[in-house]
Amino acid sequence: MPAKDRTIYACQNCGHQARKWLGKCPDCGEWNTFAEERARPKEGAGASRTQLRASRPVLFSEIEAQSDHREVTGIEEFDRVLGGGIVPGSLVLVGGDPGIGKSTLLAQVSDRLASLYGKVLYVSGEESERQIKLRGERLKLNPDGLYLLAETSLERIFDEIDRLAPQAIIIDSIQTVFSEKIESAPGSVSQVREVAGRFLMLAKGLTVPVFLIGHVTKEGTIAGPKALEHIVDTVLYFEGERHHHHRILRAAKNRFGAVNELGIFEMTGAGLVGVPNPSEIFLSERPVGASGSAVIAAMEGTRPMLVEMQALVNSAKFGAGRRTTQGVELNRVALLVAMLEKRIGFHLSGDDIFVNLVGGITLDEPAVDLGIVAAITSSFRNIPIDARTIVFGEVGLAGEVRASSHAAIRLREAARMGFRRIVMPQNNLSGMEPDDRLEIIGVRSVVDALDALF
Ligand code: TYD
Ligand code: MG
Repeated sequence: MPAKDRTIYACQNCGHQARKWLGKCPDCGEWNTFAEERARPKEGAGASRTQLRASRPVLFSEIEAQSDHREVTGIEEFDRVLGGGIVPGSLVLVGGDPGIGKSTLLAQVSDRLASLYGKVLYVSGEESERQIKLRGERLKLNPDGLYLLAETSLERIFDEIDRLAPQAIIIDSIQTVFSEKIESAPGSVSQVREVAGRFLMLAKGLTVPVFLIGHVTKEGTIAGPKALEHIVDTVLYFEGERHHHHRILRAAKNRFGAVNELGIFEMTGAGLVGVPNPSEIFLSERPVGASGSAVIAAMEGTRPMLVEMQALVNSAKFGAGRRTTQGVELNRVALLVAMLEKRIGFHLSGDDIFVNLVGGITLDEPAVDLGIVAAITSSFRNIPIDARTIVFGEVGLAGEVRASSHAAIRLREAARMGFRRIVMPQNNLSGMEPDDRLEIIGVRSVVDALDALF
């Protein structure tokens, strides 16, 4: 493209570009997201390519696979979410709300990396070296190889990287870094995209891992999120409720591993501490003897997790009832409610139904279905479920209970946490070893399950 210094308009949400200002983005559908930007870098588009080694075709059979090589930080919850450690040369985006603990997490990670693998460069455009040092003292970090740099110019950061030759790089945050070659403001889509692209080439060229911290705006998106998510290798989100101490690290994309692993931390006075036993925190405040509460044996990735599902069924003030959910999909709840009306004969259309997965986590596996059904029924009939009973199983539209994966692991976790009875899919029972700590009740349908529970 011969375009030179032409003004363009870019959607700050998805990066879509247009010649003129638009009220609504034709790509992502957001309103009022267009901002004026400069079309192209002043020195020509090829400039960033100098970072890349010249490539030529290589025989497939001659490529050395080194996918197994990972740098383990020893922070288990972090390593697990990455798929078993950091892949050298990978570009990782760590997103989250301001104040959730991104800088704290990455400060702790850089401390581990510096003491295990050599020099680490922590670049901060948000805080001064002194502020970072203060946080480091609170976290009791004391590695030899950790270098801090308070800088926002991409070009000067690259100079320092050349000089220092670190083994890992952390950029806190990508929204504060800007390239002098682009005229748009820091944090704009063009800048964020350019900066991420340059770090991608740097990471691949030097085979060092680069972590980009990104703020999520209140709509739940990182500035230019779609533009960023496909550039980087891995996207991690750091989530949690401000009023709770625990934080959840989740992979939304990972070129080097599964995306369903969770890392669970607790924010303490001395930084983030991994939570090896999540079932305990998710069940710690469970009400005993209250209706509308059911405990589910869920799986996140390879890890079992017992969580409480709560439901509140209340007659609606006006007309048709509302359905509100937190932590589970609204459509899933609507479907299960329709199934309860049709197959069990409940009249719920005039009721408000609230379903809440306790602890601020989100689960999208089908085995939570039976827990939703149990909690709604318990609230509707106002009968509590026995506190030592646990459920799991996928529910179909005909009211059938379908088999779930990893049944044996769920069962073991339930027994370990002191549960006595488990109501689960009959189809999972064949070939499964009995557990003398648990009474196992296999069910084929929701009717059977409700009989066993109430
Ligand atoms: P921070 O890592 O600065 O958040 P982010 O980089 O995502 O904006 O952490 C912010 C919060 O964490 C802040 O409110 C203070 C709290 N905190 C602790 O509770 N304990 C600690 O040891 C540290 C360092 C921070
Ligand atoms: Mg921060």
